[in-house]
Amino acid sequence: MADYDVIVIGGGPGGYVCAIRCAQLGLKTACVEGRETLGGTCLNVGCIPSKALLHASHMYHETEHNFEKMGLMGGKPKVDFAKMLDYKNAVIGQNTSGIEFLFKKNKVDWIKGWGSIPSTGHVMVGNKSFTARNIVIATGSQASSLPGVEIDEKIVVTSTGALELPKIPKKMVVIGAGVIGLELGSVYARLGSEVTVVEYLDHITPGMDSEISKTFQRTLKKQGLTFILGAAVQKVEKTKTKASVTYKLRKNDSEASLEADVVLVATGRKPYMDGLGFDKLGGKVSERGQIEIGALWNTNLDGIYAIGDAVKGPMLAHKAEDEGMAVAEVMAGKHGHVNYGVIPGVIYTTPEVASVGKTEEELKAAGVAYKVGKFSFMGNGRAKAVFQGEGFVKILADKETDRILGCHLIGPSAGELIHEICVAMEFGASAQDLALTCHAHPTFSEAVREAALACGDGAIHA
Ligand code: NAI
Repeated sequence: MADYDVIVIGGGPGGYVCAIRCAQLGLKTACVEGRETLGGTCLNVGCIPSKALLHASHMYHETEHNFEKMGLMGGKPKVDFAKMLDYKNAVIGQNTSGIEFLFKKNKVDWIKGWGSIPSTGHVMVGNKSFTARNIVIATGSQASSLPGVEIDEKIVVTSTGALELPKIPKKMVVIGAGVIGLELGSVYARLGSEVTVVEYLDHITPGMDSEISKTFQRTLKKQGLTFILGAAVQKVEKTKTKASVTYKLRKNDSEASLEADVVLVATGRKPYMDGLGFDKLGGKVSERGQIEIGALWNTNLDGIYAIGDAVKGPMLAHKAEDEGMAVAEVMAGKHGHVNYGVIPGVIYTTPEVASVGKTEEELKAAGVAYKVGKFSFMGNGRAKAVFQGEGFVKILADKETDRILGCHLIGPSAGELIHEICVAMEFGASAQDLALTCHAHPTFSEAVREAALACGDGAIHA
């Protein structure tokens, strides 16, 4: 008999959620994790710590820009950055120890160390070998750099180094106007850094609905971020304390350089599988370095499954979590399902940006007849009361059937608001279904309802 029914390799959101669900379904489960703490990139050096810094820097920004307007006097507070990092680290600690508690509660064994798969049905951790009926690879991803750019995590950093800088840089250059670049770029801009974002494309946030993307860029510009678009970074040269970023403008091939105290490289991530031995065993990996999977997250090797950032699809913690739960169901002989058409994406800046389903550009390209319902947060009393009237909700619905096909929003708590659309889409709701649902007043969510009304006879407060 095998030591375990399931061994999950990797304790991030994909892996730990999978392990907990396996145990809940009655499978004897272990999770292999080599970090000192559980939670993977997300909890240790990703989503959670960046949200702590976004929160702290947003509070600081509010004191500077909006406190006096509300009659809150007393001037701008001083930033003790070391203390801010302590707060961020405490938040990490609370979350990672929470996962350890959940493992104990659900009787999941944490095998500490880095795992490899010497043969199907076997997992090695250090010099110990374990047998398992099923193995799940949930090893996540790592930052991918650019040719000519050497990361030292001090002056030239990935998101990991950017969460642990010794001091607030005077000048920061961010390479890549994707999610990481804009979230962390806005943290440092709010804390006083001069932030310049250099982006290869001629717009920010690739894949996002273009109207939202333009409004988002305008808002970030107002917050002090500078954008150089259509610029391919060629190299980053370092001195002892600074760096110089050379880029080429795509429209005329001219080269220019920028000086920075810190350069954040945020040009995407790639699957992490160092030392795993999956490919050596004959496991299929795509040209992009992602493990190839079938419809049930099965690899081409017997009893080996893969989920999360190590496989295709958006590199998002919640997508990995959903896959983790679904593959657990499959291994327990049940039905596991992920609706890849309804996976929300959120950028946690202020204002937040969120989206789900198809963009207008995608619908156009697919030749789908659609209608648009839009509503500005300027017509939302609650948003105006908290200085967040900028931004809007955009619902895309099928022209014939009124079924909701997508939603894109920029505004207060967009990352929370998007979920009523997710639920509506899961139930195949029409815009009218949403429009006929009573929404509490005064809430930001009334703007979502108004956008749904705008898909029909019209919004009330527009
Ligand atoms: P990304 O793929 O979102 O953006 C990278 C950007 O870098 C692109 O706009 C690309 O055009 C640009 N770029 C590439 N090469 C360049 C060059 N030579 N010069 C200038 N620009 C260049 O990648 P990012 O922001 O690093 O994020 C990685 C992953 O982590 C993403 O899949 C993202 O979804 C995920 N993530 C999600 C978060 C969230 O959901 N809030 C937070 C942080 C990360």
